[in-house]
Amino acid sequence: MRPSGSGLRVKSPDLLVAESGTDLEGHGLKRTMGLFQLVCFGIGAIVGTGIFVGLSDTVARSGPAVVVSFVLAAVTCVFTAFSFAELGGAIPVSGSSYSYAYATLGERAAFLVGWCLLLEYGVSVSAVAVGWGQYLNELLNSLTGWQLPAALSNPPGDGGVVNVPAVVVMLLAAVLLVRGIRESARATAAMAVLKLAVLVLFCAIAFTAFEDGNLTPFAPEGVAGITSGASVAFFSYIGFDAITTAGEEVKNPRRNVPVAIMICIGVVTVLYGVVALSAIGALSADRVGDQPAALSLVVNQVTHSAVGGGVIAFGAVVAIASVVLAVMYGQTRILMSMSRDGLVPRVFERISPKTATPVAGTWIVAVVFAVPAAVVPLDVVMNLTTIGTLAVMAVVNVSVMVLRRTRPDLPRRFRVPLFPLAPLLGIVFCGYLIYGTGPATWLQFAVFLAAGAVVYALYGRRNSRLGRGGTEPDGETAAPAEAPATV
Ligand code: ALA
Repeated sequence: MRPSGSGLRVKSPDLLVAESGTDLEGHGLKRTMGLFQLVCFGIGAIVGTGIFVGLSDTVARSGPAVVVSFVLAAVTCVFTAFSFAELGGAIPVSGSSYSYAYATLGERAAFLVGWCLLLEYGVSVSAVAVGWGQYLNELLNSLTGWQLPAALSNPPGDGGVVNVPAVVVMLLAAVLLVRGIRESARATAAMAVLKLAVLVLFCAIAFTAFEDGNLTPFAPEGVAGITSGASVAFFSYIGFDAITTAGEEVKNPRRNVPVAIMICIGVVTVLYGVVALSAIGALSADRVGDQPAALSLVVNQVTHSAVGGGVIAFGAVVAIASVVLAVMYGQTRILMSMSRDGLVPRVFERISPKTATPVAGTWIVAVVFAVPAAVVPLDVVMNLTTIGTLAVMAVVNVSVMVLRRTRPDLPRRFRVPLFPLAPLLGIVFCGYLIYGTGPATWLQFAVFLAAGAVVYALYGRRNSRLGRGGTEPDGETAAPAEAPATV
């Protein structure tokens, strides 16, 4: 371990695992999820606003080359998914990339990763909730011919006052999450199966109207359009790493976490490619681009009726709600790990003995992130989520290389293939997509990171449990390092 008092001190993977599973009062999480539920949880976390809403924005940038943009985003994720799979199996704890950074790059880097995860999880929940509101309106419209007035369904920058549906879906997700992991996992599994079925239905309908002519000109904005489209498409893959945040609630996590990540990435990569191709094959890129509920529009046009679009809108409402649920779950588990380490207030690590969930932490996350959901436009929150996630992914690719060198002895049920080429390519692709987000987002992100460094200096560093030599602020001794939990 590096000197205490230094932001470079690392926490050993054994200690991370030994401390996992319970809070300081000894109240614990439950290992209830098997592989099937974990895969459903992953699909639940991934497939949502990005494909149902963001697709039209990607098409507006890339044109018919939207498929290439999706492939580029997928390749970035696949390299990084290898790293997540190896680390998730080697250090199966709820902190995910935050904990991997703590075990390899030191406390300051870990804190900043945790800070960026607020973008990947917290702010992305806000973005996803905003997308949910758009499809809810579409559904109301197709069912009743009426929809919520703009003032109550859009943020100030987008012609409204407050986005009420976005707030409501976040609070509903919190209600379910605090009830228990078993209930939440069941609900997410049902929603995941339904949304896959709706997207397959979409493809089947859209392909009936496929016209080759819609694919030309293929890339009207050239490579620049494809790159910027890939940065937008990337949002739709975010969430596969949420699987690693369930590391303390999964049976046999050393096997199930890596396997679930690989299955989810494979399924969504194929699915997204086919959805994008069928959408622009059915309706030209000009007509799909920049439409708020593009998939419903395509089906309405192809079937010449509002019924099909209503079915898709229903699927989208369910799909996006499951992302809110799964991603909010991930945020609460990461904060729980950071809290255990003393880097954020202790309230986030308290687990209710009754429901075995972090009740207070869940409500704080729901209420705090409902604010950007209510008042910030979707494109701003999506871009911030994307750049924050890409930065985290780049760090995870570094962590996997460092851990191979520092702890070659750790059990690894999954190992990154083509090591170290795959993580290096992961870093290059993350950098490429960060470049695609554009200067305004880089600047916002730089300000956000600087704020994180200040918070670490003023709070995290002073309250770090490791910095106190493994003792609690009240003098209790921290959990011993030498007894890794059997997982
Ligand atoms: N990938 C998630 C979505 O598209 C964040 O909603």
